[in-house]
Amino acid sequence: MVKRSVFYRIVLFSFILGICCSPSIAVAQASKTSDDVKTTLHDGLMKARQNEAFDPAAVTAFTRLQKEYGTPLYIYDREIIDEQANAIKEAFGSLFPKLHLFYAVKANTSLAVISQLRGHGLGTEVISGGEIITVRKLGVPGNDIMFTSSSKSPWEIELALKEGILLNVDSVDELNHIEVMAGRLHKIARISFRINPGVDPHTIHQINTGITESKFGIHLADGIAFSAYKWALKLSHVKIVGLHCHIGSQITEPEGYRLAAGKMLAFAADLKEKLGIQLEFIDLGGGIGIPYQDDQTVMTPGELAQVLRPIWQDGVKRMGYEPTLWLEPGRFFVAPAGFLLTRVNSVKTTPVKTFVNVDAGFNTLIRPAMYQAYHRVRIVGRKDRVMKLDIAGDVCETGDILAADRILPRPVAGDLVVILDAGAYGFSMASEYNARPLPAEVMVSRNQATLIRKRGQMEDIFRNQVTEIDKSRRDHIRSH
Ligand SMILES: Cc1ncc(COP(=O)(O)O)c(C=O)c1O
Repeated sequence: MVKRSVFYRIVLFSFILGICCSPSIAVAQASKTSDDVKTTLHDGLMKARQNEAFDPAAVTAFTRLQKEYGTPLYIYDREIIDEQANAIKEAFGSLFPKLHLFYAVKANTSLAVISQLRGHGLGTEVISGGEIITVRKLGVPGNDIMFTSSSKSPWEIELALKEGILLNVDSVDELNHIEVMAGRLHKIARISFRINPGVDPHTIHQINTGITESKFGIHLADGIAFSAYKWALKLSHVKIVGLHCHIGSQITEPEGYRLAAGKMLAFAADLKEKLGIQLEFIDLGGGIGIPYQDDQTVMTPGELAQVLRPIWQDGVKRMGYEPTLWLEPGRFFVAPAGFLLTRVNSVKTTPVKTFVNVDAGFNTLIRPAMYQAYHRVRIVGRKDRVMKLDIAGDVCETGDILAADRILPRPVAGDLVVILDAGAYGFSMASEYNARPLPAEVMVSRNQATLIRKRGQMEDIFRNQVTEIDKSRRDHIRSH
């Protein structure tokens, strides 16, 4: 009897709570207001970026996307991708007449995203055979693909050679494998070396690649890189065309680039003077950072171009010729364009913290768990009851916290949460951990949303598994 009355009280309480707090009611009211002023999906996404996810335009946009595609959902705004591409093109194009830009596709390998950036005339920088096949599928010609990896398998080298792709070499040992393979295929390998300039760009440790202890590149120190070029000159199936470095990712100040560029240009002058090598290009890598926090200021592409210009001019004078400047950003082009939309499953207050449990986790976006990376979070359609919250993922690991100690309006189950700047190293690093299929991806153009990747299904998880159950089923079918 007592139990039953408690049950009724819970039902009544939930009903009242539902009326007061139900996001669907908030959404319905918001949609009406927003429809009146005819806002687009893009407007809604921008409201979230401006920290106004409570605005009806944001509520309408994210609710519509949730209804059509479900959660967790990666949303990319085409206009922001275009703005980012234009920002780099304009900043460097005006100061470096001999310039070729590449998109490092590892940041976001979705075909629609790569093809949007190809539309800006960008080449593609790839780091695996899979990425080669991906960009070739889009018709990117071999001579506009650069293949960088510190561990290339024989089939990847063979594929690159057959497709006429530039191989960015990471060791002398690898160069020798390339020489042998190119000889066997009767090809001439176009190569550059990835140089480790021993420069610290002061970024997150795991993505700091130009420091001496990093696994990447051939060290400038002790004449190691010089000897590598000298050796390459002796090989009959190799043609040296360039020089490359990539000192890290999410670099927010120009100093590291300034130091690396100085060393690279001095080295290029040495190659010309002592070995007679004239390079087609010098590639200063990617790594241009973005502000992940509301009040964060970072170097702009324009500032970086201004810093690099005098070093470049000086180097060109010493070299006696001008190679093409290559750059290969990934994150900068796509990170700000991406929004990860996730739904609140439940909210729990412990003696220590309040956890907002959402339906995305480090299987969906690994950056916070892997690098303690910061992503801004917005609660859709809510403004009040602001408090300290943790946005907790649905992966069964203590470390699966998407955002810790954030001051946000307290949501309720069913509300939507948006994680900003999720366009780079988001979906491309997602996994099926905990047997959760991969999320869907949509591209937004003004008020139009296009599904660019269907939501993963449980069949995807089972597809390549071979089990006893399958075997016995096969045997059963055979015997009938
Ligand atoms: C060789 C190389 N080039 C370019 C990039 C792109 O870096 P980012 O996305 O920071 O611009 C990476 C990423 O780590 C890389 O390894």
